[in-house]
Amino acid sequence: MSAEHDQGGPEQTLTARALADIGACADLASLDEARVRWLGRKGALTEQLKSIGSLPPSERPAAGARINRATERVQHAIEARRVELERGAVERALAEGAVDVTLPGRGEGTGGLHPITQTRLRIEQIFRQAGFDVAEGPEIEDDFHNFEALNLPPDHPARAMHDTFYLKGGYLLRTHTSPVQIRAMRSRPPPLALIAPGRVYRRDSDVSHSPMFHQIEGLLVDENVSFAHLKAALHHFMEAFFEQNLSMRLRPSYFPFTEPSAEVDISCVLCQGRGCRVCKHTGWLEIAGCGMVHPRVFEACGVDAERFTGWAFGAGIDRLAMLRHGVNDLRLFFENDLRFLAGFAGGAP
Ligand code: PHE
Repeated sequence: MSAEHDQGGPEQTLTARALADIGACADLASLDEARVRWLGRKGALTEQLKSIGSLPPSERPAAGARINRATERVQHAIEARRVELERGAVERALAEGAVDVTLPGRGEGTGGLHPITQTRLRIEQIFRQAGFDVAEGPEIEDDFHNFEALNLPPDHPARAMHDTFYLKGGYLLRTHTSPVQIRAMRSRPPPLALIAPGRVYRRDSDVSHSPMFHQIEGLLVDENVSFAHLKAALHHFMEAFFEQNLSMRLRPSYFPFTEPSAEVDISCVLCQGRGCRVCKHTGWLEIAGCGMVHPRVFEACGVDAERFTGWAFGAGIDRLAMLRHGVNDLRLFFENDLRFLAGFAGGAP
């Protein structure tokens, strides 16, 4: 040690070694080890400072000053290297998780209402404008509302028309929206004007049948309600829905809950009645079932059949949607292939 002092600047050699050492530190951990090596309690420069006591008193102040300067330089070098290493670490982390901002973005798909939902909203809009309420009923129904109150007693042959899904405890999945008629009439007195859209279920599945499908029910009950009202209301609705002039005809039919009953045909909306594949070259499309509310249904609901009359209809929402959008396979609506649905995204009802 004293030999180095004699050379008049051992700290300079030490400083040079320390700076080289610090510069060679490749990470923060080794930099900290270097700090201990040079400036720690037993560090090389600290030892130098301690050794001053062994110098002649006249040399001590100068030696102390030199060592302090050396210590300061080494401290600065450590600090500078620390900043450098930290910045490097940040840059490496950024490079690893690098985002190439020049790449085109993935884009955000725009969602949209399902075509069946759009169709339902469109139907609701048309009927609301005519003053109808929109009613709902449960999809899990009981025998009373789905059949019995609709004039379909347990052994009624018309029950065979509905391939019913039965549940435990006397419940079933409603086979039509007509039970909502019963619930509405039993919950408030006439006059009533409502539609009831919703899901219905039947054990049926092919190109034009799905075990779950959608119906729209219509019900109007008041004094002096006639079959002519029914025909006019349906005709008005069909023309508003399809946005074209249509011919409409009623064919006699049978439903236990209406009397008289009719099937509703409209002129084909795709060929305007000339005949095409969709209307099977008849020019007509079967679009709904309807009739005047049967007195026995009124009776089951506590409505005075002497004073009130009413009409009801039921139509398939899915079929209305298929015809309006030219979709020829019902199943497309329920497969929910996004390539199919995207064609309807953002569509107004
Ligand atoms: N509920 C009948 C069906 O599902 C349709 C209908 C409703 C007929 C209302 C007449 C009156 O087939």
